[in-house]
Amino acid sequence: MQLRNTRNGYGVVARSLHWWMAALMIGLIGLGLYMTAQPDGDPKWALYDLHKSLGVVVFGLLLMRVIWRRTSPPPPLPASMAGFEALAAHAGHLLLYAAMLMLPVTGYLDSAFGGYHISVFGLFEIPMLLEKNEPLFELTVQAHRWIGYGLGFLVLAHAGAALKHHFIKKDDVLLRMLKDRPD
Ligand code: HEM
Ligand code: HEM
Repeated sequence: MQLRNTRNGYGVVARSLHWWMAALMIGLIGLGLYMTAQPDGDPKWALYDLHKSLGVVVFGLLLMRVIWRRTSPPPPLPASMAGFEALAAHAGHLLLYAAMLMLPVTGYLDSAFGGYHISVFGLFEIPMLLEKNEPLFELTVQAHRWIGYGLGFLVLAHAGAALKHHFIKKDDVLLRMLKDRPD
């Protein structure tokens, strides 16, 4: 098992973080949409608690991922990609990272401004450092919602691009995220 990234592909640490976080992010969009459509009461609030707990896990994994990325930089994009394609790929990745950061941040803010708590799987509580504030609650709920929807479109484009690389351009971009590829 190759732990670190090489010049030809992602190592097992970056790959595990990518796929676990991808599953969590897609799951959280689905859970977010499902739970908000439920009638108030049980099980809606339990689903909110689950959504928030998993969101806190995403935040923790993101911190580890950013530190690891600095320790072991990603492989360069294939030289066959045109300048604008490479630019679009980098911009897309940056937006995905921004969404992975801003969803937990706006999720925290909307809970705090709404006067709600965040209990992580019932094990411990995240300190709520802000006072209840109705206008800011409305604003951060909207921000969270629209960033969540934006992420949905971004993920479709991102996964579509990965499949295009694999099946149409037939390069190794998808394989780099799937298995060891030594230098
Ligand atoms: C569901 C299907 C998905 C597929 C097929 C997929 C595929 C890939 C592939 C092949 C790469 C490597 C690109 C390269 O070599 O430069 C990659 C990178 C990346 N993916 Fe995904 N991905 C998926 C979902 C997601 C999701 C849901 C997220 C986040 C919400 C995400 C975030 C990222 C980021 C941030 C990178 C850049 C990693 C880096 O270089 O730091 N991906 N993905
Ligand atoms: C990290 C990834 C996350 C994703 C992808 C995500 C996604 C979503 C989505 C799609 C919705 C539904 C929006 C709507 O249609 O109204 C939602 C709602 C919500 N999320 Fe998240 N979320 C994440 C993290 C968090 C975190 C960390 C928290 C809090 C700690 C949180 C708290 C909430 C709350 C309270 C709602 C309900 C808002 C309302 O009443 O409309 N989320 N989320």
